[in-house]
Amino acid sequence: MVPLKRRRVAGSNSEADGAGEAPPPARFPRVLLFLLERKMGASRRAFLTQLGRRKGFRVEESFSQSITHVICENNSGDEVRTWLNSQHRAQGGAPLHLLDISWFTESMHAGHPVPVLDRHKLQEQQIDEAEVVVCSVPSYACQRRTTLDNNNTILTDALSLLAENAELCDQDGRGVAFRRAAAVLKALPKAVTCMTQLRGLPCLGEHSLRVIKDILDNGASSEVESLKQCERYKARKVLTGVFGVGAKTADRWIREGIHTLHQLRNSGHTLNRDQQAGVEHYDDLNQPVSKAEADAIEEIVAKAVVSVSPGAQITLTGGFRRGKLTGHDVDFLITHPEEGMEEGLMSKVVSWLESQGFLLYQKTTRNSYLESKDGPARITSNMDRFERCFSIFKLAKEDKREEKQFVPDVSREDGGLAEIKPAGHKPWRAVRVDLVVSPFSQFAFALLGWTGSKLFERELRRLAGQEKAMSLNSHALYDSTQQRYLRATSEQEIFAHLGLEYIPPSERNA
Ligand code: CTP
Ligand code: MN
Ligand code: MN
Repeated sequence: MVPLKRRRVAGSNSEADGAGEAPPPARFPRVLLFLLERKMGASRRAFLTQLGRRKGFRVEESFSQSITHVICENNSGDEVRTWLNSQHRAQGGAPLHLLDISWFTESMHAGHPVPVLDRHKLQEQQIDEAEVVVCSVPSYACQRRTTLDNNNTILTDALSLLAENAELCDQDGRGVAFRRAAAVLKALPKAVTCMTQLRGLPCLGEHSLRVIKDILDNGASSEVESLKQCERYKARKVLTGVFGVGAKTADRWIREGIHTLHQLRNSGHTLNRDQQAGVEHYDDLNQPVSKAEADAIEEIVAKAVVSVSPGAQITLTGGFRRGKLTGHDVDFLITHPEEGMEEGLMSKVVSWLESQGFLLYQKTTRNSYLESKDGPARITSNMDRFERCFSIFKLAKEDKREEKQFVPDVSREDGGLAEIKPAGHKPWRAVRVDLVVSPFSQFAFALLGWTGSKLFERELRRLAGQEKAMSLNSHALYDSTQQRYLRATSEQEIFAHLGLEYIPPSERNA
């Protein structure tokens, strides 16, 4: 008998190859295998990889364009297809076999790749080509038209809740991932009824797909339902519902056992000015603002603006400009067609509003934006540098605005009239209003930047940076290749600079 060692050395043509040694020359150059670790597990994958190599197969560690056979264990065809879509494999490459482990084991026994039979192929539901075309969705939200007609509210509400929770936990990356997934579903022309309809769609990560599947299979997502019951989540929502309270502050209070507004009020904490106003007007500020209320406030702000600077212009921005019927606040952009005339405008507008008793609270921040010759230092470094006023308006209730009822005021010597106030109801409500003043030369950028949605804006900036080597903010667009700022006097021009089809505000509801 030839000793094992000798036999190996002598048998240079043999298939034998010990673990850890260099693999023999590939015997099947046209076959390039990739073993999917998902559900197979890392150690079994490593074992099978070595086995394949010992038999003269080429087995790659990572997925690439050249892979010809993907081997999976315990995965459904749809799962693998979804994974494959996330690999951004270019179209038109070599045909790719998605195979069950049975093809691999049979080939190992045979010592060569066995012909691919139907029973080796992962079972996938037939792709309806027409359906795939209808649902082909570009990956940046700013390349899509997203109206307020959302056909998938059950799915998007669930994903938005998970996004909100991630943001409340200071995990913005996860939050954005859920927001992107929700935005893709918002853009679909029909309600999703089964997972196969999601094939080929961008931005749907494993976690989001799991949530969607749970809802399609069981009517609700167990993760979302248990989150809704979670005490910590509920406390975070209540506390961040206070104007001026962010995720970090809320968490600090929760760690001290403060979970409710009542507990916050009794805690003896010194609140800053924002937070004091937030607690005082908590109920009003957490009640949605209607379009009618936004219109009423627009009338007031317009009056203030023309009173202090006759040529100045005011534009409703934010959600209401996108056609939303309710909002958490009302946003306005103020400018003056004569560059420079906008200087000092904010303080005059605010003084006018204060003198008329329209403001319950205001905090104004100065404009600190300066254009640098070398372009913006960081994409975000020049964000939010406009002169800006966070305010809380005192808005007369609708019936009070339209027609006030008066009775003789016995307390007044002049026999004047006093307004009737229904007992127990205050005749006004508090409304959050954002005012921003922009120089005329930056108006188009400010308008685009303050119209939202937040995700739409984020995607515009991401596309500018990643696809165009440009940097966009609410003041300017800088082209790093040409090393110069690109001017624009309308939103249309900015879309054109970015190589994008123009999307009107009503279709920016991503
Ligand atoms: N925005 C901003 N910088 C901030 C706050 C807001 O640029 N510090 C922009 C957002 O990107 C968004 C717009 O201002 O585009 C409006 O923000 P917001 O009022 O928070 O959202 P809306 O879309 O108006 O939603 P809602 O109706 O709930 O107010
Ligand atoms: Mn808003
Ligand atoms: Mn706002």
